[in-house]
Amino acid sequence: MRYCTFGRTGLRLSTVSLGSNRLGDPGIGPEVWPPLVQRALELGVNFFDTSISYNQGRSEAVLGQVTSRWPAPTYVSTKVGFDIDWEAAAEWQKRDYSAAAIRRDVRGQLARLRRESIDMYLLHSPTVADLERGDWQHAIDELKRTGVVKWFGISTSSHESGIWAIEHGADLLQIEYDMLSRTAEDELLPLAQRENVGIMVRTPLARGLLTGKFKLGEPIPAEQQWRRPTGERLQDRLQRIEQLRFLERPGQTLAQAALRFVLAHPAVHCVVPGARTIAQLEDNVAAAEADLQPEELARIRELHQEL
Ligand SMILES: NC(=O)c1ccc[n+]([C@@H]2O[C@H](COP(=O)([O-])OP(=O)(O)OC[C@H]3O[C@@H](n4cnc5c(N)ncnc54)[C@H](OP(=O)(O)O)[C@@H]3O)[C@@H](O)[C@H]2O)c1
Repeated sequence: MRYCTFGRTGLRLSTVSLGSNRLGDPGIGPEVWPPLVQRALELGVNFFDTSISYNQGRSEAVLGQVTSRWPAPTYVSTKVGFDIDWEAAAEWQKRDYSAAAIRRDVRGQLARLRRESIDMYLLHSPTVADLERGDWQHAIDELKRTGVVKWFGISTSSHESGIWAIEHGADLLQIEYDMLSRTAEDELLPLAQRENVGIMVRTPLARGLLTGKFKLGEPIPAEQQWRRPTGERLQDRLQRIEQLRFLERPGQTLAQAALRFVLAHPAVHCVVPGARTIAQLEDNVAAAEADLQPEELARIRELHQEL
């Protein structure tokens, strides 16, 4: 594993994290998840990304259960602003970025995570309008002042929300950026680099498409559909992925190439790929062992011009 200094926070984080939105998935035995987190720790992963809303708090609870027993320091980023049971919540209840909601929810998050403080606390995908409207800043300032929250940021809903957050003092951002979607390179990443803002990249595998496991010309089987594109949009993406297959070679899977691509950007500190199995986790973590070759990077950039 490699470690980075996470921007102005100074935290030393593993460059590959374990995105934890599937921990505690319904319909899967709860005994599956702790060994996944345990294996990540054994492989040198020292930080995990979660949210109050991931599986009604079960993701935070699994992380708390396992990391609290681990002898070395571990770091967690968690998010607030969605109802803990947002899939069941009425539309008007789904998101709430108010100071009152943050004060209400943070105690439960600390308890589930089994921590006295939260290293990285993020508003979960607010829009610029949410950020401008809310009184969330009062709660965040209070939590930072009392040491309950160490560092603050947002997971972006658009690049504009990330730019707004940086301009208003965010310490870190969780952004979308992958081999197929590179618009973060235009403004957001250069600004983050200038301001020394910690950048973690979510969905770096384009929700698993960039592992190359889905076949061009075929729909994704219903049981694997989870938040993935369909129809023409899917086929367009799979077509582009076919052109990236030159990255597969001994010592490099397409998934590893996708993670290495994201990590090659100088403003990016770490990637947050999700994994549902130990084999996926091991494949992803091994991305940290090497870099893309310069000619591979150059070819990806050329292809991007052509597509
Ligand atoms: N708004 C937000 O704040 C937000 C939104 C989305 C995600 N996130 C964060 O970002 C993390 C990552 O997002 P994501 O999991 O949706 O997208 P992702 O990292 O692009 O894709 C991960 C999914 O791809 C499959 N996969 C992963 N590694 C693989 C491998 N080596 N080989 C084959 N298949 C593999 C797994 O799904 P299958 O086994 O089902 O194929 C896994 O769940 C989340 O866990 C969460 O922490 C945050």
